[in-house]
Amino acid sequence: MSANTLDASLAKHVREKYADYTYDMFMMNMSAELEEMQLFSEYVDVLNEKKIYTFEAARGGTQGPENDLDRFNGEKVHVVNLSSYNYLGFSYHPDVIKAAQDAVAKYGLGASSSPVISGTYTVHKQLEEALVKFFGLPGRGVSLFTAGYSVNLGAISAFIKPGHHVIMDSASHMSIVEGAKLSGGETSFFRHNDMAHLEELLKEKCDEFTRVLICVEGIYSGDGDYGNIKDVVRLAKKYGAFTLVDEAHSALVSGKHGRGVCEQQGVLEEVDLYVMTFSKAFGGVGGAVYAKKEITQYMNWYAKCRMFSCALDPAVTGGMAKVIELAGGPLGNERRERIKENATYYRGLLEDKVHVTPGDAWVVIVHFGSESKTLALNDYLQREGLDTSIIQFPAVPRNEARIRMFITSEHTKEQLKKAADIIVSAAQKFDFLKK
Ligand SMILES: Cc1ncc(COP(=O)(O)O)c(C=O)c1O
Repeated sequence: MSANTLDASLAKHVREKYADYTYDMFMMNMSAELEEMQLFSEYVDVLNEKKIYTFEAARGGTQGPENDLDRFNGEKVHVVNLSSYNYLGFSYHPDVIKAAQDAVAKYGLGASSSPVISGTYTVHKQLEEALVKFFGLPGRGVSLFTAGYSVNLGAISAFIKPGHHVIMDSASHMSIVEGAKLSGGETSFFRHNDMAHLEELLKEKCDEFTRVLICVEGIYSGDGDYGNIKDVVRLAKKYGAFTLVDEAHSALVSGKHGRGVCEQQGVLEEVDLYVMTFSKAFGGVGGAVYAKKEITQYMNWYAKCRMFSCALDPAVTGGMAKVIELAGGPLGNERRERIKENATYYRGLLEDKVHVTPGDAWVVIVHFGSESKTLALNDYLQREGLDTSIIQFPAVPRNEARIRMFITSEHTKEQLKKAADIIVSAAQKFDFLKK
């Protein structure tokens, strides 16, 4: 095949067999060969011609419970929004927007420097102090990053070096896996939430390596279940390993005070690296690692994606400081209650009818089986008025494709009922009703 043109027979194959291809497949396999780029482009063209390209639809307003989507091909749909993780609705809370506006007025748009050079402003210090106070343990600090992804990338690669080892849950987020790879340490995976398997690995690795870090999550975003943090911490102590808990989907929401699954399971004090992302319940962007001060001070200098990158922008930083204040008060309590009530209500509408991952988390996963249904199913859901995210091979094993929905405190019962009715009608049409 020439380097510049897509082989005609391959192009024909893409056109005829587009349903066999998956978006994720390209994402994971892309080797940057020109042929592959063209193949992907051909694939997107086919989906657009057939009017079933559901990705990258532009949103017309805030990430509230309902939204207007401008699909790639110019079509417009109105949807119940279960595809954004603005769990407590803080991204559009008027006080948060006002705090962000005030910070822009005072400091300007960008931080214009690395945080360790001249990019740290008073507002960054205010956010750090607010977070330390919110999580409440003595001797702790935070290190701020511009993305949740970067927190894992930077924190793991700063803490782990060649000669060390990272043990990860097999369902770990890509940012954990990439952080471990970048660190130069050796890596292994234990079966999802399987403590016996983790212990087997710990026995072996803690003998062999001078430092072992176990990485787990509060709530797993692809499975919608809780990490077994209490047992992970117990095993880490037994074998002398360190722990990193990514609370992307649980910080501000789980636990009595919103301190996450670590608080809920009574082990906040025992965890070495607590990772939060500001993109989820905080309603912003960025993230932080919360740990003993000597560790966060070290992260500030040795996490390269922090040191060699511009600091968080003032607007988001000011907004995040306001979110912490709200989340720590009566509004936070009220919204934490409501998201749990909403998740239980929504699960109750679905559990008898379709295969839902059990539990009570606000990440609700419905299994539909073969990835060959994905394109038509996702298109159907959007057209019926429901926005979700679809997870399929290779992000999950073959024939274990699933619909992922994020419930928020701001959805009404009517919106959730409408969403559940659409899921059940899709299950009838695409044959994934519980038998
Ligand atoms: C578990 C987990 N960790 C980290 C991230 C990355 O966070 P961000 O999108 O804020 O970069 C995500 C994002 O979805 C996530 O689900």
